[in-house]
Amino acid sequence: MMNHHLLLIIHLMSATFWVGGHLILVASYLPRAIKEKNQNYILNYEKKFEPIGMLSLILLVLSGILMAYKYGVTIEHWFEFATPIEKIVSTKLLLLFATLLFALSAQFKVLPKLNNNIKYLPEMTLHILCVTIIGITMLILGSFVRFGGY
Ligand code: HEM
Repeated sequence: MMNHHLLLIIHLMSATFWVGGHLILVASYLPRAIKEKNQNYILNYEKKFEPIGMLSLILLVLSGILMAYKYGVTIEHWFEFATPIEKIVSTKLLLLFATLLFALSAQFKVLPKLNNNIKYLPEMTLHILCVTIIGITMLILGSFVRFGGY
């Protein structure tokens, strides 16, 4: 079984890429796209970030679940909201599910329309902001584990 510290490093590196990648989008490309009314800033960045983003999200889930198992939070205890660390893991799994819904909606509903119509930029902006805020929330939730959970 993989060492907990190694899993944590993989988890933190992936969190850096996932949250950092979205912050670059929010702080840099999104404002530029809005200002210049040109969605290509977002579309081009999205295309480049996608492989890194997907890999980091997959690694976050795998390393997160393996670490949860090392804390005794196995699948039969998920969503019980009974013990401090299990509460964190269960909340993170719910937020992960929300992230997947936003990602699917962006990929199949919003992005194809945004491709040739700037009027979908506000809808895309909402998706980007939600995924970014959820990512930051998951990062903050994770930091509670070392204090024994909540
Ligand atoms: C966007 C997704 C995620 C982000 C940004 C994220 C971020 C973080 C961060 C920053 C920590 C803090 C580690 C520390 O305090 O040293 C952490 C810890 C942790 N995360 Fe995540 N995480 C994500 C997803 C998940 C998922 C899906 C799970 C499992 C269901 C999970 C389970 C854990 C566990 C168990 C810890 C505690 C590790 C420890 O301190 O031993 N995380 N996470």
